[in-house]
Amino acid sequence: MNNLSIPKNYWDAALYEDKHAFVWQYGEDLLKFLNPQPGESILDLGCGTGQLTEKIAQAGADVWGIDSAPAMIEKARENYPDIRFDVANAANFQVGKPLDAVFSNAVLHWVKEADSAIASIHQSLKPGGRFVAEFGGKGNIKAIATALESALEAVNIPAQALNPWYFPSIAEYASLLEQQGFDVIYAMLFARPTPLADGEAGMANWIGMFASTFLAGLSSEQQIQVIRVIEEYLKPTLYRQGTWIADYRRIRIVAIKL
Ligand code: BEZ
Repeated sequence: MNNLSIPKNYWDAALYEDKHAFVWQYGEDLLKFLNPQPGESILDLGCGTGQLTEKIAQAGADVWGIDSAPAMIEKARENYPDIRFDVANAANFQVGKPLDAVFSNAVLHWVKEADSAIASIHQSLKPGGRFVAEFGGKGNIKAIATALESALEAVNIPAQALNPWYFPSIAEYASLLEQQGFDVIYAMLFARPTPLADGEAGMANWIGMFASTFLAGLSSEQQIQVIRVIEEYLKPTLYRQGTWIADYRRIRIVAIKL
C-alpha cells in the first residue's frame, strides 16, 4: 500500500501495462476460439494497449482496434504503429464495410448498454460473421464488490449507484444476442481465480486501476483508509502466500450473425 496512487484519469495506460498484463495474457486463450485467418477483416473491440490486436495481425488478418479510452489508444498506436487504432465506443461504433469477425476480451462488463453494443456488433458483421467474446459473467468479483460496497457505505458513498459493471448470466446474454439476430453456438461461465501482480500491493493496484470511479469523491487519505478496510475484509479469503487472488468468473461466448 505504500506506493498507492489512484489514477486521476479513468484509464491509466502505464499502470495497465505495468501491473495488469494478465488481462491480455489470459485473453490469448480466447484467440483460439477466434482462429483468425489470413485476409480476414476483424475488429478488436476494446483493444486496450493493443497486445491481442497485434496477435490477430500476426495471423495475417486485417485487424482494426478500437477502445473508448484515448490513453489506451495512444499507447496502442505507440506500441504497434502499423496497426490501425481508433477511439470509439462499444455501444455506438460503426464500420465502413461489414467484417468477418468481432473479437472482444475483458471489455463488455464495462458496457451496461448491452443491447446497444450487440446492435453495433451485429450491424458491423457480414451474414455468417462471428462474434467471439469473453468478459466478467454472473458472480464475477463477488467478494471484491461486496467488500467495496461495505467499505464505501461506511463512509456514506452510495457504492451501488456508482457501480460501472455489468456481469450477465449465460441465459441473459445469449437471449440478448438471439433477440438481435445471432445464433449462439458456444457459451460457458467459469471461475478463473486470477493472481494479481505485486504481492501485498496487488489489491490496491487493482482497485486503483479498475475501481477508481468508486473512490473519486474521497480525499487521498480517505481512499487509503477505504482500501485498507477492503484489504482487511478480503484477506482471509483472497490473499494466499503473499499474493492476492481476484475472484474472477468469465463468460465466454461465440455467436454467428444469421
Ligand atoms: C474483469 O475483467 O472481470 C473485471 C475487471 C475490472 C473490473 C471488473 C471486472
